[in-house]
Amino acid sequence: MSKHTVRPDAEGVSLARGRKATIDRRVAPTRVGLVCPAVSGVKTSRSPEARLAEFEGLARAIRLEIVFSEIVNLREIRPATFIGGGTVERIKARVEAEKLELVLLDTQLSPSQQRNLERATGAKVLDRTALILEIFGERAATREGVLQVELAHLTYQKGRLVRSWTHLERQRGSTSFIGGPGETQMESDRRLLEEKILVLKERIEKITRSRNEQRKSRRAEPFPMIALVGYTNSGKSTLFNRLTGAGVVVKDLLFATLDTTVRRAKLPRGREVVFSDTVGFVSDLPTDLIAAFRGTLAEVIDARIVLHVRDIASVQSAAEATDVEAILKHLGVEPSTTAFIEVWNKIDLLPEAKRVSMRAEAATGRNGIVVCPLSAATGEGADALLLAVENILALSSRTYSVVLPSGDGKRIHWLYENGEVLETVPAGDFETRYEVRIGPTRKQQFLSLFEGNIAGGGA
Ligand code: GTP
Repeated sequence: MSKHTVRPDAEGVSLARGRKATIDRRVAPTRVGLVCPAVSGVKTSRSPEARLAEFEGLARAIRLEIVFSEIVNLREIRPATFIGGGTVERIKARVEAEKLELVLLDTQLSPSQQRNLERATGAKVLDRTALILEIFGERAATREGVLQVELAHLTYQKGRLVRSWTHLERQRGSTSFIGGPGETQMESDRRLLEEKILVLKERIEKITRSRNEQRKSRRAEPFPMIALVGYTNSGKSTLFNRLTGAGVVVKDLLFATLDTTVRRAKLPRGREVVFSDTVGFVSDLPTDLIAAFRGTLAEVIDARIVLHVRDIASVQSAAEATDVEAILKHLGVEPSTTAFIEVWNKIDLLPEAKRVSMRAEAATGRNGIVVCPLSAATGEGADALLLAVENILALSSRTYSVVLPSGDGKRIHWLYENGEVLETVPAGDFETRYEVRIGPTRKQQFLSLFEGNIAGGGA
């Protein structure tokens, strides 16, 4: 569904209202020029070529038509326009020759740099954050996702009000991107934004509250949550489908998944779990955006096991892993607190010799983390991953035999709500024996509640 579609929510209010897309793609694909500045002396984890390729992927994710894309080497950052005067002139010439509406710069621009660049080139100019927000805006499918993106967008806009083309232009009835509103207009716009931000925050909080309730009841279910995380396009949705047999959209597009999808699945030895597929991460993800997605990422925060899905065939695989780990750390999810499995996906793309050496490398794990090389596309290695999941779960939970009188409804209820009841066997006329598996988070409570009724402990 396009974000231009008015989407009624439960209260009958249109969610799309109040935010027009920054890039208007209703008529025809917007033709763009991409510029990837490489500042000399600034060390980055990726080569400029790799950064440009990723930036092109981001632009294609919302079907922008790339007319030119280039790396611009900078000796230093120019405070007024970020890139140098000669480059600006060159871009202006291309903008005019190709009649381009939009130029994207793979960097963070200050509002004044952006304004100056727009004035100088005659095109709309967006930076990396604005592009990511644009993609997220298009991909959000649930009510919560839409609101979260909207909040991130408004927060971003508030800090850069002077160059907002959204409702300001509609109010002015202007089609030009150039020139800012007057001071008074800006002040009232700021107030308007602040009010909207407040309303959005309240609405998100309301949804988060009810979502938390749902999560609580899901947590009370005996099914452990296994969260798939990873860099965008690493293959999370493909793997999710492979593991759960679900039909989640798989596209060779960045950020095909924006909202979390959860689905139950059975492990090889019969144990049931819940897998969750989440938003793909990307480098330089704005902090505001991570914060806005906290609700959506709750599944990751609560997960019993995090599957970090990596595109091991990507030349950027190591840098992507570092970015994902940094974002997870920001969310408080680390190997020291949560069980991790690294999934080295897309091994089918590697030559046989490389595959063999990779398997040998994976066998010893990475930094103490279990590694499973596999191909979500062909299914090779997927069974080994499920076994690894099952083994980690088995290590972190135990089964117990508990004998309870039939009338002890309260504690019987507790067992079903908090544990996984594997078997019930009548024990005498008025008693039943429960074979129950208890996870680490419930163990203490279980032991204190059932002390005296525990007949034995298993694996
Ligand atoms: P986002 O939603 O952007 O976060 O992407 P994702 O991580 O969910 O990736 P997705 O599953 O959509 O896959 C991205 C692309 O990689 C698609 O074209 C998939 O077909 C492809 N892909 C996924 N797994 C494999 C694999 O094991 N081998 C190969 N060759 N391609 C794969």
